[in-house]
Amino acid sequence: MLVKIERFDDAKHRNHVITLWKSVFGYPDRRNEPDLVISKKIEIDDQLYVAVVAEQVIGTIMTGYDGHRGWIYSLAVLPEYRKIGIGSQLLKHAEESLTEMGCMKINLQIMNENAAVKAFYKKNGYEVEERISMGKQINANVPSEK
Ligand SMILES: CC(C)(COP(=O)(O)OP(=O)(O)OC[C@H]1O[C@@H](n2cnc3c(N)ncnc32)[C@H](O)[C@@H]1OP(=O)(O)O)[C@@H](O)C(=O)NCCC(=O)NCCS
Repeated sequence: MLVKIERFDDAKHRNHVITLWKSVFGYPDRRNEPDLVISKKIEIDDQLYVAVVAEQVIGTIMTGYDGHRGWIYSLAVLPEYRKIGIGSQLLKHAEESLTEMGCMKINLQIMNENAAVKAFYKKNGYEVEERISMGKQINANVPSEK
């Protein structure tokens, strides 16, 4: 199967990515609404990549580099295309792009209930690091309910 990894193109890919993220992640909170996440990301940089087969987006990955660490977000492959190496191909592409930027360490977060994905990341060279993840929502930037 010919899978191409491309930089996200708003005109070509936005609707595909929204559909994919809604089906794979389905986060309920407003701050993770796919259309908003895409807009916020491309406002800052273009580190959003898609895996494309016959012009259909079948996978995504997003990276961020802050000068200290690289981060990986939103790795997703459509269920019918899983376990044939596409997730690993997306991850490799993201790692190469972070490496080119000078990144020395990549981190990512997995939800507790998504522990199965640990096996995927371990196969790709990632180790569990005992840390507690903390966060604070900035309400002023989260759209209120329509
Ligand atoms: C995680 C995900 C991206 C993996 O994509 P994929 O294309 O199936 O991954 P690959 O085919 O490259 O898998 C590489 C290896 O990891 C293993 N693996 C993949 N998913 C796995 C899972 N859920 N549980 C255990 N092992 C898994 C594969 O068996 C494979 O091993 P192999 O090379 O010995 O066959 C995909 O399952 C997915 O989209 N999940 C839902 C979204 C998600 O949880 N994203 C990650 C958190 S942001």
